[in-house]
Amino acid sequence: MSDTPKTPWSGRFEHTPGAFQQRFGASLAVDRRLYAEDIAGSVAHARMLAKQGIITSGDAEAIEEGLLGILKNIEGGAFVFDESDEDVHMAIEAELTRRIGDAGKRLHTARSRNDQVATDTRLHAKREALRLHGAIGELRRALLDRAAAHADVVMPGYTHLQKAQPVLFAHHMLAYSWMLTRDAKRVKRAWKAADVLPLGSAALAGTTFPIDRDAVAQELGFSHVSPNSLDAVSDRDFLVDLTYACTLGMVHLSRLAEELILWSSDEFGFVTLDDAWSTGSSIMPQKKNPDFAELVRGKTGRAVGDLTSLLVTLKGIPLAYNKDMQEDKEPAFDAIDTYADSLEAMAGMLSTMRVNTVRMRDGALGGFMAATDLADHLAARGVPFREAHEIVGKLVLACERDGRTLQELSLAELQAASPAFEDDALGAVDIDAVVARRDTAGGTAPGRVAEQLAAAHAALDADAAWLASHGLADD
Ligand code: ARG
Repeated sequence: MSDTPKTPWSGRFEHTPGAFQQRFGASLAVDRRLYAEDIAGSVAHARMLAKQGIITSGDAEAIEEGLLGILKNIEGGAFVFDESDEDVHMAIEAELTRRIGDAGKRLHTARSRNDQVATDTRLHAKREALRLHGAIGELRRALLDRAAAHADVVMPGYTHLQKAQPVLFAHHMLAYSWMLTRDAKRVKRAWKAADVLPLGSAALAGTTFPIDRDAVAQELGFSHVSPNSLDAVSDRDFLVDLTYACTLGMVHLSRLAEELILWSSDEFGFVTLDDAWSTGSSIMPQKKNPDFAELVRGKTGRAVGDLTSLLVTLKGIPLAYNKDMQEDKEPAFDAIDTYADSLEAMAGMLSTMRVNTVRMRDGALGGFMAATDLADHLAARGVPFREAHEIVGKLVLACERDGRTLQELSLAELQAASPAFEDDALGAVDIDAVVARRDTAGGTAPGRVAEQLAAAHAALDADAAWLASHGLADD
């Protein structure tokens, strides 16, 4: 590491930056993860410069060979970044010039770090969006597998965390799968938002060189080139889109994590988390804690902070590039990594947990959860629903006082409460019948849930095909 780094702007300056200024201004620790994108962008740029006769093909070949050598060294772990370099772009260019001499100094022709960093970040956002899309797919698959494996298990459904109406456990798992289907769509939209090439905008106004932006876009896999150079170097909307997708995705995982935490408590006992996804206590020998679910819930706070931080950073920046924008990467990368890890943790927990079907079913028998069906029985036989509600409410109150369930009432007791109760009224409180009766589109009846499961599989397969078409089939 050199104490007084030579900057690319040393011609204009009489002094080199001090150590503090160097450290404060640097982003290498965060943006070094863009190395592969930086090299891909530079190779495409150099090839285009040669094709357009702006640099010689000999220089372009030396640049490409030099950059690919650096890439190989970085990936092989042999490359040590010089911490006195300000950012990954300068670090790689400086190393290239050390390796190939003057040709390396020609790479930055018709380019600025402003369009360079925007390009690298977009390439990276696209790659990370695909990684996240794949990880969301894994968790969706785990949810669908659990739904299919316990297709007929009845559990209590809640509102206000009070027992409400019984539902199929599969219906509950599928509810999360639909949330995650939307999350995948949001990540895909963020991928599309990033799919625009800013390179060629140079510092802010375009370049005097006869560059071919379309050729670069094609080589780097961008569908469009940006239409305005000022906007191109200062637009980080795509990163906000991706960070938002991560944040809302985390909010969904946090809700699922909260359910697993509740369900694995002794009071619920609906699931037992695998030992691999639990921790013990240093003092209480009996403990088995759902730490990983709690961490997913806790890390959601970080992701919300990341999104807020990014939005506030962008607020109030005049056109075009300003150094504030260097602060975009840390929160975005943190949100991406937090989300990717949390998706993996939730998939691990879900696919290994034990589903305590008897506890779930027992839970569904309590809490007077057939009350709506008794009221519906009366309403279907002409009693106005509000009156039916009142009649059944009184039955519930009486049962509660006597410590009985609705299922324990006799037909005579029902008919004493209302002569409108017919002979088949007792069938209204049978818990499987309560579930089966909710046979409307999107309802919890077994046939509807089977329909949903098929639709969820089809949606997942379509998303997997989209992902495969972008080259990540086996990742
Ligand atoms: N490290 C910088 C960033 O991430 C690169 C762009 C710097 N451009 C400049 N003109 N200072 O934003």
